[in-house]
Amino acid sequence: MLLIKILKRITAEINLLRNKLMKFYRSLYANQHQLTSTTSENRYPELFEEARKALIGSAAAGINILSYGCSTGEECLSLRRYFSNSRIVGVDINRSNLQIAKSNIDDPGIEFQMSNETNIKASGPYHAIFCLSVLCRWEDTKFLQNCANVYPFSKYEATITFLANQIEKGGVLIIYNSNFRFEDTRVFGEFDIINTPSVSDSGFVVKFDSFNNRVETLHRHCIYRKKF
Ligand SMILES: C[S@@+](CC[C@H](N)C(=O)[O-])C[C@H]1O[C@@H](n2cnc3c(N)ncnc32)[C@H](O)[C@@H]1O
Repeated sequence: MLLIKILKRITAEINLLRNKLMKFYRSLYANQHQLTSTTSENRYPELFEEARKALIGSAAAGINILSYGCSTGEECLSLRRYFSNSRIVGVDINRSNLQIAKSNIDDPGIEFQMSNETNIKASGPYHAIFCLSVLCRWEDTKFLQNCANVYPFSKYEATITFLANQIEKGGVLIIYNSNFRFEDTRVFGEFDIINTPSVSDSGFVVKFDSFNNRVETLHRHCIYRKKF
């Protein structure tokens, strides 16, 4: 009996310590979404092409684009191929990614900045904001039934609402590989869905609903236009 009591106590103490460590670990990354920096050039050719089509005719004088979570800059270089007459602002929360991006890319129309609300607002408003493989925790959420403790909907909604507010009327928001559906946010009401015939889903990252419960149905949409 005594041994069982001791074992129970030890288990409870271990769980307590584990929870404290998890809380501390999460606090280190409070402002961060995806933790890894994987990227490559022209990573989403069909999506970029669909976004280009969606923006044809808008802003004859050139368009202003934000790459949110630009990593080491390859995404900005890729966007340059599809949007030749544009200013591209890449923001990331990881300083060493930004240093690499700045030292590798020499294009006067591409700028890199630390990701924070002040910088993002100051360079806006934007005709297009790309959030690709950033509004998620992958693969930490891969096998979860509920993601509240790892990456809660509230965090996604706060960021996507802020970004949506930085888009010009008629501009587009492009979200790919996120843990949540833009349709579940309150700000979605200000947008229309754009059909993307060559892109059949919104990425391989698993989806959760606004209660952080896993969703198994296929989610298709990834480009949204702000209503006039
Ligand atoms: C997997 S990479 C995606 C890079 C690129 N968008 C792509 O799809 O190839 C995710 C990036 O998001 C960045 N990130 C995470 N939280 C961020 C935040 N709050 N603001 C801006 N970037 C963030 C990470 O530092 C990382 O460079």
